This record gives sequence, structure tokens and C-alpha cells, in this order.
Amino acid sequence: HAERKLSGMWRNEQDSLMEISALRDNGDFQGKYLTRVTLAGGCARASPLNGAQQQPGEGGWPTFAFTVRWDKFSNATTAFAGQCFVDSGGKETLTTTWLLREAVGSLEEDWKATRVGRNVFTRKRTPKG
Ligand code: BTN
Repeated sequence: HAERKLSGMWRNEQDSLMEISALRDNGDFQGKYLTRVTLAGGCARASPLNGAQQQPGEGGWPTFAFTVRWDKFSNATTAFAGQCFVDSGGKETLTTTWLLREAVGSLEEDWKATRVGRNVFTRKRTPKG
């Protein structure tokens, strides 16, 4: 069940899109992330993501983690960690937990700089091939 892995287009419950385009044999991957929501409420740009998928054990669902470096519109960074599942109906789901680190101006503001949340992604469309 891990054949299709992470490659392709995914959408989360906030309507953000991510495309994982380059999944290497060793599990490293790259892609682009387009968020529908931003801290400042403004427009987002497609931003680069980089991650690694764990080689799944026999009968297991693979875990993965990736970072998004928000490009041009924000100096924040997000790290996602999650796992791939396929339900009995064949629907592929990525469950993730994220940390969003915002840049603050001083050490005194460090306490408020990191948010945590969850996102669930489902496949938007099947990649060619
Ligand atoms: C910013 O606004 O400074 C960067 C964009 C942050 C978007 C966050 S990351 C976690 C959550 N999941 C999404 O798809 N978007 C938000």
C-alpha cells in the first residue's frame, strides 16, 4: 500500500494545496506548498517544501516530516510531521501535526512565537503515470 507514497497533489481541510513532485529512493522529497491562510491575512505565494519519508516497515504506514520555508510573503517557517494512511475505501489520508514559527523581534517575545496545530490532507488528483 505504500506504492504511491507521497507524490502528487494534496489538499487539507483549510483548502491549502501541496504538490510533492520529487520523491527519491531514499525517501527524501521536495515540493511546493500554497497556503490558503496566512498570519497577516494577506496573499500567499507558492513556497518550497523539503522533507523525508521513513521507509515503511512491513504492513506499516509510512511516517514523514517536512518543512515549508514561506517564500517572499513571510519570514515564518513551518515543520509538519505525520503519517500516511489508506482507509478501507481506498481513500488516502495524511494526518499531520505542525509547528509554525513566526519571527519575533526580541528574546522577550520568544514565548509567543510558536503555534501548534493539526492538518489532514487528502489526495487532490492522481499524478500521471
Ligand atoms: C505566514 O502566514 O506567515 C505563513 C503561512 C502559514 C500557514 C499555516 S502553516 C500551518 C497551517 N496549515 C496551512 O495549510 N496553513 C497554515
